[in-house]
Formats: sequence, C-alpha cells, structure tokens
Amino acid sequence: MENSMSPGSWERMAEWYDAKQGDTGDFWHRTLIDPTFLRVVGDVRGLRVLDLGCGNGYLSRRFSREGAKVVAVDASAPIVQRARGRESHEPLGIEYRVADAARLEFLRDASVDLVACNMALMDMEDAGAAISEVGRVLRRGGRFVASLSHPCFDQGPSSTWLIERFFRSTRVSRKVEKYREPFADEIPWQIAPGQIVTTTGYHRPLSWYAGALRTASLLIQSLEEPSPSQEFVEGSSEGPYVAQIPVHLVIEAVKV
Ligand SMILES: C[S@@+](CC[C@H](N)C(=O)[O-])C[C@H]1O[C@@H](n2cnc3c(N)ncnc32)[C@H](O)[C@@H]1O
Repeated sequence: MENSMSPGSWERMAEWYDAKQGDTGDFWHRTLIDPTFLRVVGDVRGLRVLDLGCGNGYLSRRFSREGAKVVAVDASAPIVQRARGRESHEPLGIEYRVADAARLEFLRDASVDLVACNMALMDMEDAGAAISEVGRVLRRGGRFVASLSHPCFDQGPSSTWLIERFFRSTRVSRKVEKYREPFADEIPWQIAPGQIVTTTGYHRPLSWYAGALRTASLLIQSLEEPSPSQEFVEGSSEGPYVAQIPVHLVIEAVKV
C-alpha cells in the first residue's frame, strides 16, 4: 500500500515539471546543479540507490543506465505516474514508489548504499523525519548526497539579487532575512504565460541541517557550492551573479 501525502501544488505541476526536466534535467540542472551533484555522487555501478524526491525520474534513469539498482520515491502521485510512463517506454527495472520521504517503511534498515536527493529536501515539510529515515535505510558506510537551495543565500522568493550600479562598476549582493528561524514560504513557478502555481518551500538554517544529519548518524564528509558552467554564465541572466554568490549547496554525509 503506497502512503501518499499531500505535497500541495506539486500535484498540479506534474505535466509541466516532467516536460521541463525531460530526460536530462532542465538548463539550471544541466549547466549549474547537476555537474557538481553527479561528481559528488560518483560511480553508482552495482549500488542500491534510493532517489528521494525523484520527480520525473530523469536521474533515476541515469543511475540505472550506469548500472545501479534504483528505487525512486516521490510524494506526488502524478509525477510518479509520469516517471512510470517513461519507464514503460524504456524499461530499466526502476522501482517507483509514491511515498512521503518521512515514512519509508517499505525499505528495510541498512538496505541502501546511496541516497541521492536532488533539489527536494527544502521542499519537504518534515525534512527532519526524512533525514532520520535516510539514516535508518542506509547501510553503515553508505552515503547521502543532497543538493538543495543554499540556506544562506536562497531562502525562496524573499531572497532577491540586489544590483547597485556605480560609475565604473556594478555590485551584486543577495538579500537574506530572518535567517535563524525555520519558516515556510510560497514558491512561484510560471507553468504557462500568465499561469503561476505555487509550492511550499521550507527555509532552515545551515546549522539545522548539520544537527538533523548528526542525529541520524550521518557525518558530513563534504559541502560543495556549485559553480556555474560557462554555458550557464553565458545563457542565464543570473549567470554572472551566481558566479559570485552560490544559490545551491551539495551535502555529502556518510552513515557511521
Ligand atoms: C524540485 S522537485 C525535484 C525533483 C527531482 N529530484 C529533480 O531534480 O527533478 C522536488 C520534488 O520533491 C517532491 N517532494 C516534496 N515533498 C516530498 C516529500 N515529503 N516526500 C517525497 N517527495 C517530496 C515533490 O513532489 C517534487 O517532485
């Protein structure tokens, strides 16, 4: 029995999100986030991988093609339906589950080698319980690799670029407020001209993540702040800004 939850508007975004990510990830993923995320993930051949908050499963399929045995979980039934549709066109043996990351009771203790969670942790209402479940299902020495919006520089829509133009130069800074307190905010996604759907994002300070990982016996091994590729710098209006201030974080933690 699948334990679906209510991930709010992720349900309404499934078709758009699936088309946006396609089989490679969208421009931001492909040219900014994923190169660092995948380098930290490393070689997945022969590993049992849990793709947590898998969306349309483009990374699940990549891991599977690279020789991993993949179980992929997302709380949104419509997006998992899209992922299963892609699986039926190209069967790779991926096991898709509709479930809240905070309740992974269908996975046995210490049964997974790697949990990959790409840009989903800050969308999870109970990320503390999700991290606790990651600690439970990982075998000792197994790794948790998560990319997320950088808690220090991207708290959602309340963080904006501040651009100051001087006589000979332009200065870029990032507005951050109420950093110390966790809070929820509505994240707008333009899914069609004039059509905006919001999802809920959850700001938590960096120390909150460190504490939740420690409680789950997950020892931080590396922290990376993805630098933009040349393609991103040239192809995105935010490229030159992201070259100065990172808006994503990749955390790698080992189960001890
Ligand atoms: C920004 S998308 C990222 C999806 C995918 N990892 C990718 O990179 O394309 C965040 C995903 O997290 C899922 N999600 C949100 N809360 C969740 C939860 N509590 N448990 C599992 N998945 C959740 C959403 O349904 C959505 O598919």
